[in-house]
Amino acid sequence: MILLLGGTGYIGEAFYTELRRRSLPFQNLTRAEVDYTKFRELVPFLGRTKPSFVVNCAGYTGKPNVDACELNRAETLLGNTVLAQTIAQACDMMQIPWGHVSSGCIYSGAKIVENGLVRIEADLTKPDVAELIERQPTCVQGFKETDEPNFSFRKPPCSFYSASKALGEEVLAGFDRLFVWRLRIPFDEFDGPRNYLSKIQRYSKVYDNVNSISHRGEFARACLDLWDRRAPFGVYNVTNPGWTTTRKVVERIREILRLQRDFEFWKSDEEFYRIAAKTPRSNCVLDATKLLSTGVRMRPVEEALDEALRRW
Ligand SMILES: NC(=O)c1ccc[n+]([C@@H]2O[C@H](COP(=O)([O-])OP(=O)(O)OC[C@H]3O[C@@H](n4cnc5c(N)ncnc54)[C@H](OP(=O)(O)O)[C@@H]3O)[C@@H](O)[C@H]2O)c1
Repeated sequence: MILLLGGTGYIGEAFYTELRRRSLPFQNLTRAEVDYTKFRELVPFLGRTKPSFVVNCAGYTGKPNVDACELNRAETLLGNTVLAQTIAQACDMMQIPWGHVSSGCIYSGAKIVENGLVRIEADLTKPDVAELIERQPTCVQGFKETDEPNFSFRKPPCSFYSASKALGEEVLAGFDRLFVWRLRIPFDEFDGPRNYLSKIQRYSKVYDNVNSISHRGEFARACLDLWDRRAPFGVYNVTNPGWTTTRKVVERIREILRLQRDFEFWKSDEEFYRIAAKTPRSNCVLDATKLLSTGVRMRPVEEALDEALRRW
C-alpha cells in the first residue's frame, strides 16, 4: 500500500488520480483523520499500516498566494520544513522509502552562457540579459540539482515561502531512501484558480518572466515512475524540459483559445512589486536532464503547453 499525505490539495489530487489510474492500492490520509504532522501520531500509523512507500504532497503554500506566507511564518515553517523533517524521521525509523514534493522556487534566474563563460544571472528581466535571451535563447541553461539554492534564507532576498522550502530540502539532506521532487508552476487543461494558465487569463495585468513549468498530471506520473523504476533516490527537477516566458504563454493562449482580448503587462519589476506583489517572486529555469536520464519522460514544455490549451 502507498500512503498519500496531502492528497486533498491541488498537487495531491494529481497523485490521487494517477494512483487510481494505475490501480495501485493506496490510502489518502488527511490530517482530520490522523494528524500526520505529529511524529507521535505518524509513527504508530506507519507501524499499523506498513506502507511500502509514502508520497508527501502536504505543505503550506499560502492563500490566495505566497504573500500570505510572510504573515503566517510559523505555519509556513511548520508545513514546509518541520513536517518534512517529521516525515523523514518517521520513515527512517520505520525503514519506509518516500517521496517529498519540493519546489523549484528556491532558485532565481538561470545560468547564462556568454562568450564561452557560464554565470548565474538571478534577474532575467534586466534589459541587457533579456535582450541577450531574445537574441540567443540557447544562452539559457537551467539550474541542476547540485546547484546551491540562490533564493533562500542563506541567499536573501527571497520570499519566506521559498526559504521554508529550501530549508525543507536542507533538513532532508542527511536522510537516504527518499526522493525530493521539485515542482515548478503547475499547469494543465483544467480551468481553476491554482492553474497557471487560468491565473494568466484572470490577472488584470500580467508579469512577464522566464520560467520552467510543470504539467501537473505529468509531474505526478514522473514522480511515481521514478519510484516504479527504482531510480536512484535523491533530488530531481521534475519540470517539462525547456523554459518559456509569460509572453509566449499569452501568445499560445490567444492563438489556441482564440481569445480576442488584449493582455496588459506590468511595465517593469519596479511597477509590479510596487503595486501588485508584496514579497519577491522566484522566476527560474531548471535543468531536467537528471530526470530524463533515468528514462522517465516529460514532454518538452512547448508540446505540453499547446496540448493543455487544445484540451482546455
Ligand atoms: N501549487 C503550487 O504552485 C506549487 C508549486 C511548487 C511546489 N508546491 C508544493 O507542493 C506541495 C502541495 O502544494 P498544493 O498546492 O497542493 O497545496 P494545497 O492545495 O494547499 O494542499 C496542501 C495539503 O497539505 C495538507 N497540509 C498539511 N499541513 C498543512 C498546513 N500546515 N497547511 C495547509 N495544508 C497542510 C492539507 O491536507 P489535509 O489537511 O487534508 O491532510 C492540504 O490539502 C507543497 O509542498 C508545495 O510547497 C506547490
